[in-house]
Amino acid sequence: MSAVIEIENLSKDYEVGFLRKKRVRALDSLSLRVERGEIFGFLGANGAGKSTTMKLLMRLIYPTGGRARVLGRDISDVSVHARIGYLPEHPYFYDYLTAREFLVYCAELFGYANDDCRARAAELLAAVRLDAKSWDKQLRKFSKGMLQRVGLAQALVNDPEVVFLDEPMSGLDPVGRREVRDLIASLRTRGTTVFFCSHILSDIEVLCDRAAILQRGRLAHVGRLEELRRAAGEQRAMEITVAGADATQLGAALSQLGGARVVATPGGARIEVAKEHDVDAALAAVRTVAGARLVSVQPVGGALEELFVGDDDSAAKP
Ligand SMILES: Nc1ncnc2c1ncn2[C@@H]1O[C@H](COP(=O)(O)OP(=O)(O)OP(=O)(O)O)[C@@H](O)[C@H]1O
Ligand SMILES: [Mg+2]
Repeated sequence: MSAVIEIENLSKDYEVGFLRKKRVRALDSLSLRVERGEIFGFLGANGAGKSTTMKLLMRLIYPTGGRARVLGRDISDVSVHARIGYLPEHPYFYDYLTAREFLVYCAELFGYANDDCRARAAELLAAVRLDAKSWDKQLRKFSKGMLQRVGLAQALVNDPEVVFLDEPMSGLDPVGRREVRDLIASLRTRGTTVFFCSHILSDIEVLCDRAAILQRGRLAHVGRLEELRRAAGEQRAMEITVAGADATQLGAALSQLGGARVVATPGGARIEVAKEHDVDAALAAVRTVAGARLVSVQPVGGALEELFVGDDDSAAKP
């Protein structure tokens, strides 16, 4: 069976500049497959090309090269839009409509019968946990987080087979993040395929079956979460916190260990080693310093951070 989303060598150049036009490669030969029912995370730093990919798949912009299929149809075939949902990065709403009116309108666009539209609107507003007191308020009076919920509701109006969510947690408070996370997880039980992008690692880590990491327009990694974690662990920096000894003493003891960095802290020092592999040697060196007490050993950043940030040499070139 073919994948729900198939992306093949998809590239996008933007033309920038006014008098002297220059082409900037925002997406460079992306190839990716997302299977039915997967929650797929699309991760990357600001400017990595996540929204560009989404917009290409939604046919809001045109590719410079390559092709993609959604539900077996080429992205140029917009009839497939009846079966998918999309939450844009910066959703634009009709400000003077209320939340309920807006969703009724969306349901009408998808051809729901009149009575069904109102029921559908209520069902969705409840699903995204928008406070019922706000259902009949104009959207222009909504906070960012409230608008984000309306945006999500709108993406689900047609009970889509695939949803594309561009930063679904953006603008939400911690409770809101958890609610949206639960909502996305509940889509899994209905068999909906979810393709969502984020620069927040923890959202991807708790939700996704698989994830892709985009670095400056290029696919840097793709795989199941545990594979990505393993790859990250192998090159993960570790931080060792020590009390009872000063940075100079520790620095001397660690001088044999290449790549260890020692930073003074009140009452002790923090030692950073480039790889998890070096922790044992560093601890052995710390023990040789009189009075040194081990406080903690922990990874620097989240498990996937190393893969996410990457190194500067892999920058996409136009
Ligand atoms: N309309 C445009 N014209 C010119 N350059 C653009 C345009 N849209 C995006 N870019 C550039 O393309 C690159 C990718 O942008 P994109 O919006 O896809 O990143 P992103 O991964 O979604 O980032 P963020 O996390 O900030 O939303 C950036 O360098 C950006 O400056
Ligand atoms: Mg974006």
